[in-house]
Amino acid sequence: MNYIDEIKKLKKEKNAIILTHCYQSVELDEISDYVGDSFYLSKKAREADADIIVFAGVHFMAQSAKLLNPNKKVLLPNLNSGCFMADMIGVKELRQFRMQHPNVPAVCYINSTAEVKTECDICCTSSNAVDVVKSLGAKEILFLPDAYLGKWVEKKLNDVRVITYNGFCPTHLKIRVEDIENARKVYPHTKILAHPECHTEVSKLADFVGSTKEIMAYAAKSLDKQFVIATEKGVVDRLKRDYPQKEFILIRDDIVCQNMKWNSLEDVYNALRNEEHEINIKKDIFDNAKKCIDKMIEVCK
Ligand code: 13P
Ligand code: SF4
Repeated sequence: MNYIDEIKKLKKEKNAIILTHCYQSVELDEISDYVGDSFYLSKKAREADADIIVFAGVHFMAQSAKLLNPNKKVLLPNLNSGCFMADMIGVKELRQFRMQHPNVPAVCYINSTAEVKTECDICCTSSNAVDVVKSLGAKEILFLPDAYLGKWVEKKLNDVRVITYNGFCPTHLKIRVEDIENARKVYPHTKILAHPECHTEVSKLADFVGSTKEIMAYAAKSLDKQFVIATEKGVVDRLKRDYPQKEFILIRDDIVCQNMKWNSLEDVYNALRNEEHEINIKKDIFDNAKKCIDKMIEVCK
């Protein structure tokens, strides 16, 4: 079966759109309406007037789309698509963390479950974390689940103490200081661009640290012809495709988020045909989780 043609037909028939994160397999781009990072896709989900949103990403992203546009049917093509980092904190752990630091506002990374969002003050993505934390005007904040993004925000802001939970991304933490040092030896004149989920010691050695979108924008604008990329492989695949005159080197071959690679063309086809797997969020969680994510949109309009 030609899945691409069939998916395109089904999209029309069912008035559906497909949102695709740039860590997904690059072959999905051909059937996608929008491809980008978490914040970009959150905004596209919120604006969508289609009846169905197929989210080619991981579970928390599809949940966020449902929170942002509750009247749409949101489908996640493959239910295995979780996020290890999001699963590192549940409500019980969050309550303990908050109890240790009473009256300190809590910022959650969008890489968290809807349940966790119900008990946080505001959420953020990697591309707006600094602005979101700044918007609180607080001297100290709690940041969860990602310790490294939290510490990176603290460094950018100087005057805010960021108390971090001990979550992390196993994919980005594979990148070691030695990988950066080796890349420097092999490509001494090449800029190294890293995601803030990387270990603090890795970020310190990079030439530029930014979200997925910022890394892609940097590489697009720069006059340099070669870049070492310290983030997920999907970013490098898209940069290679979009800027064939430049060279992009993935810092290590194994910087691949397996969770992001579950959704295949066949899964997307089945999702549309059978309208599976629909994201539903329990009523008692919905309203407070929505408030948390709506606040982010309000601050970062
Ligand atoms: P972005 O916010 O850059 O899309 O990153 C999402 C993510 O899961 C990074 O690991
Ligand atoms: Fe989660 Fe890391 Fe995969 Fe992003 S790259 S979805 S943080 S496991």
